[in-house]
Amino acid sequence: MRLLWALCAVLFSFQQAFAATVPLIVVSPKDLNNQTSATLSCNYTNPASPVTRTFWKKNGKDIESTKKDGEKVFIEYTISKIETNSGKYTCVFQSQDIAAEANIEVKRPPHIVAHKHSENANENDKAVLVCECHSYPLATDWNWVKILETGEETSITNGTERYLIKHTPYNSTLTIEDLNNDDAAVYECIGQNDLGHSSDKIQLRVRSRLAALWPFLGIVAEVIILVTIIFIYEKRRKPDEINDDDDSGSAPLKSNSAANHKDKNVRQRNSN
Ligand SMILES: *[C@@H]1O[C@H](CO)[C@@H](O)[C@H](O)[C@H]1NC(C)=O
Ligand SMILES: *[C@@H]1O[C@H](CO)[C@@H](O)[C@H](O)[C@H]1NC(C)=O
Ligand SMILES: *[C@@H]1O[C@H](CO)[C@@H](O)[C@H](O)[C@H]1NC(C)=O
Ligand SMILES: *[C@@H]1O[C@H](CO)[C@@H](O)[C@H](O)[C@H]1NC(C)=O
Repeated sequence: MRLLWALCAVLFSFQQAFAATVPLIVVSPKDLNNQTSATLSCNYTNPASPVTRTFWKKNGKDIESTKKDGEKVFIEYTISKIETNSGKYTCVFQSQDIAAEANIEVKRPPHIVAHKHSENANENDKAVLVCECHSYPLATDWNWVKILETGEETSITNGTERYLIKHTPYNSTLTIEDLNNDDAAVYECIGQNDLGHSSDKIQLRVRSRLAALWPFLGIVAEVIILVTIIFIYEKRRKPDEINDDDDSGSAPLKSNSAANHKDKNVRQRNSN
């Protein structure tokens, strides 16, 4: 029994001593949800070895401007606009041989942005509409809605009709195969995470096959008109040319010229 007590006492004191000296980074605030601005801080107690350099990282990338040499154990970083600066922030305390770090997640509802706000595609072709999530945490859920000019909205189900929807954590793609006139509409993509949702819109225009042909038909029409004009012009010009240097012209003129020739011949013979 006494031995057991002694053992417990040793264990307890060992734990106390360990807890008092274990390196620890206390972050503040723990997480940030849906705020406009904030100051993040890290307090490093009982560093294992002297700190030589401190800095912050955002989404795993060093923020160069925060790099400072020196034996600092308390650092802060101010985010003025969380709206455009959400992400996973990390404070880093670098020692000679080791780096200690801790994370603070700065979250907001998704910021969804259409890759292009307007798309033009030809009938029978396919359209690919893309929306991206530009915030942290990324959208965990995506939805697509078709909005007709009348305001009527229909939710799009993957795999129905000619629709194919694909998500990655960063974006969502709606592909519409074999386009027809009814596909011309506004498509809304909605991204959602734990803090809320947001959306963006894409206007899809569908050109009919004939419309796609118009420029070509225009050129063809121009060529036909030109050829016709040239043809008519040539036809009207032809009779004069024939009379000028051909003997098979109209009857009265021919006899005249024949008579002239005869006259000339006669006169030539006479002069001889
Ligand atoms: C850091 O934490 C230690 C231990 O909890 C505390 O004594 C100290 O005041 C803190 N430093 C700052 C700047 O908050
Ligand atoms: C939609 O369906 C296709 C094929 O059935 C599948 O590959 C894809 O992962 C589905 N997309 C979603 C978002 O479930
Ligand atoms: C969507 O995101 C993935 C992953 O980052 C990327 O590989 C892909 O190219 C993106 N798709 C589009 C259409 O931008
Ligand atoms: C986030 O903030 C916006 C505007 O400040 C508010 O409308 C929304 O309800 C908030 N969301 C959460 C989950 O607190």
